[in-house]
Amino acid sequence: MNRRKFTKILATLGGASAITGLYAWQVEPFRLEFVQKKMPVKNLPGMLRGKILMQISDMHVGRTDKDFLIRSLKEAQRYRPDIVVYTGDFITENGGVEFDELNEVLDHKVTGKIGTVGILGNHDYGMGWSQADVSNRVTSMATGAGITMLRNSAVVIGGLSIIGIDDLWGTNYRPEVAMLHYTEGTPTIVLSHNPDTCDEDIWKNYKGWILSGHTHGGQVKPPFYRRLLYR
Ligand SMILES: [Fe+2]
Repeated sequence: MNRRKFTKILATLGGASAITGLYAWQVEPFRLEFVQKKMPVKNLPGMLRGKILMQISDMHVGRTDKDFLIRSLKEAQRYRPDIVVYTGDFITENGGVEFDELNEVLDHKVTGKIGTVGILGNHDYGMGWSQADVSNRVTSMATGAGITMLRNSAVVIGGLSIIGIDDLWGTNYRPEVAMLHYTEGTPTIVLSHNPDTCDEDIWKNYKGWILSGHTHGGQVKPPFYRRLLYR
């Protein structure tokens, strides 16, 4: 292979990886996809059959581009959901910017026709997941926006019990208190930001849906490097 040909191959390879990099950096993170699933719930009251429950999770305001979030929420509003659940990580700590931006983002929140609830994620506890004051601030901002925040508590919407467990890594993880609200035979779904709670001995024979967030990314694993996973 002569030098000119070698340089040409190098340039082509460089171009291809630049395009891949650009796609991963500027295109893929802003691709929005709405996934629709059937959600059978045992003993669901007739009035809730065929209704739409929308789950929104891990907005990470403060880290995620605010305009992208607002655009996405506007898109989501078009589904006119009956119930909306926010499964945590409203914010990512970013020197206080996250609170200003959360105010703006929540102006465009999606609300359900019959109910809107939320739980906290680890990032909603600020640095080291240990700042109870940060979690209280996120809670009151979300509550002010009309989201019923469940912190080891439950709410009944149209006969469906929604139980919200506070975050596994936060300072207020009390699943035993949350699950006091569970009665076998009652139509129920549980919100738990961190899916690792599924491995805990807290479920009191509950066998229904557990809606989680927390684990996202992970599709990319560069060679010799850990999987790119965000939590
Ligand atoms: Fe998380």
